[in-house]
Amino acid sequence: MCGIVGYIGYRDAYPILIKGLQRLEYRGYDSAGVALFDGNNINLAKTKGKVEDLSKKAKTDISLKGTLGIGHTRWATHGVPNDVNSHPHYSNSGDLVIIHNGIIENYESIKKELGKRGYTFSSDTDTEVLVNLIEEVQKTEDVKLGKAVQIALNQVVGAYAIAVFDRKKPDEIVVAKLGSPLAIGVGDKEFFIASDASPFIEFTNNAVYLEDEEMAIVRLGKEIKLRKIKDDAIAYPNILELQLNLEEIEKGGYDHFMLKEIYEQPRAILDTYRGRLLADQGIIRMAGIDDHLEKFLNANRIIIVACGTSWHAGLVAEYIFEDLARIPVEVEYASEFRYRNPVITDKDVLIAISQSGETADTLAAIKLAKERGAFVFGVCNVVGSSIARETDAGAYTHAGPEIGVASTKAFTTQITVLTLIALKLAKEKGEFSSSKFHEFLTELETIPAKVERALQSDELIKVIADVYKDSNNCLYLGRGYNFPVALEGALKLKEISYIHAEGYPAAEMKHGPIALIDEQMPVIVIATKKGHYEKVVSNIQEIKSRKGQIIAIVTEGDEQVRNLADHVVEVPETLESLTPLLTTIPLQLLSYHIAVMRDCNVDQPRNLAKSVTVE
Ligand code: G6P
Repeated sequence: MCGIVGYIGYRDAYPILIKGLQRLEYRGYDSAGVALFDGNNINLAKTKGKVEDLSKKAKTDISLKGTLGIGHTRWATHGVPNDVNSHPHYSNSGDLVIIHNGIIENYESIKKELGKRGYTFSSDTDTEVLVNLIEEVQKTEDVKLGKAVQIALNQVVGAYAIAVFDRKKPDEIVVAKLGSPLAIGVGDKEFFIASDASPFIEFTNNAVYLEDEEMAIVRLGKEIKLRKIKDDAIAYPNILELQLNLEEIEKGGYDHFMLKEIYEQPRAILDTYRGRLLADQGIIRMAGIDDHLEKFLNANRIIIVACGTSWHAGLVAEYIFEDLARIPVEVEYASEFRYRNPVITDKDVLIAISQSGETADTLAAIKLAKERGAFVFGVCNVVGSSIARETDAGAYTHAGPEIGVASTKAFTTQITVLTLIALKLAKEKGEFSSSKFHEFLTELETIPAKVERALQSDELIKVIADVYKDSNNCLYLGRGYNFPVALEGALKLKEISYIHAEGYPAAEMKHGPIALIDEQMPVIVIATKKGHYEKVVSNIQEIKSRKGQIIAIVTEGDEQVRNLADHVVEVPETLESLTPLLTTIPLQLLSYHIAVMRDCNVDQPRNLAKSVTVE
């Protein structure tokens, strides 16, 4: 978490840094800061709050001159969010200044040592300890900044993406990475540094993504030099040409990124299967699977690891893989899997699902599975992300940048990719006749238009949101394929509107949650025609007889549930295993509208961050 940005070149650094930080706010937004070098001095402004607060403060407090600078937007790990704990941090001499995304785990012992040598600390952060350690190395070893950073980093345990510069040598920024992402944008006589490419996309399409345990000295007028932090070996920068464009990372007329991203789903799903799903030829082409087909076909089981919304996509995938491809699947929270000494063999295939491709727990789970011999496959959205690089093979979702912290289009595109994989394996294993396979492929091709139709309930959902916006609790029920959708619906509501919500398998309700039901309790029930419809109708009756308020998600034309429910939202009919792609849409819209009506910060909910690069 935390976003970092830096610039060195010939333009004014300040506007680049501020705009860059705004684009990185999805990574954390409890405080922000910038440091600029004006030719003689470092001018530093930082504050608790958003980048907007920083920009007001910087304008009044400091000179905004300078063509070299760094900036930071924070999601607090060590030390509460306040002005002092915000980044950048100075070293004691005031010559070095640093920004950091990550955690230095052994900072306490280093702090103690530095304290004995006379260093003082104004903040509670691990980062201030790191910059002073670099300064101490610089002094005692009499080395240049790059070398000092390297020596210091060999003494720390933890994760970092850092950028640091020295007032006495203002023609370079030293950057390093372990566990947190760091990209360098390579322009003509200028360089950009950032947690992802969004801050510099209008200036250059060329970027170098640092690998773990690499560092670089980004020096004006010079080519980038990469080094391995551990053994000083030279690494050669791989300059990638980015596909990202500016429109994709702007709101495009929508009030919030989340709403834009909800509405982008027809396009995102289409982009995700485009070129892979060839219905007329009756094939699914996915290089990541085609090249490793035997691994999948011979697998004893598939283990899926993920966090948050991606974990919910994993649960949907469990239904799809087992139902269609008849392959046993286990779905695990990456954070549990990594620490519970799981049994993994070289006959297992592990699928890691991650929008950002940077989630620390998911990365750790991948490393563990690889060590124990499993074949590891990634489903990521962010191209070139750590998980995409760490896995043996993978398939990207082509959702485009997702900026709203609450995940929407990433979820439906993850399900799309996983469905393609399951269908392909089902076909290869002979579980499907050609005609059944063809039926699935052609139906999948109709999904973007059906999502479009589901989006047309937006106004109706707004009316429903208005009725329930002041609720304190909310229950989401679904069965089969729509049980994970119920979990995801509840998560969306919690995340952005701060209403307590629980997702439950509809039939489990009678083992607990039914005790909560009274006339104050809205219950959202997914009751589409295919998949245990009659059973869900019985569950609805149980709720009704306890006076619960029912909002039902039903198949177009449904009459039975309409007669029972207080509100009904229709989605088009599709195959049972594809229903999550449609039933998710009204739940996303409901959370969105409730959050807006409650005046919540939809795109940046409190305490959350989009990319969780710490444990
Ligand atoms: C955070 C985000 C969620 C996301 C989860 C996993 O909690 O706020 O929206 O689902 O991380 O992220 P990933 O990038 O691995 O999918």
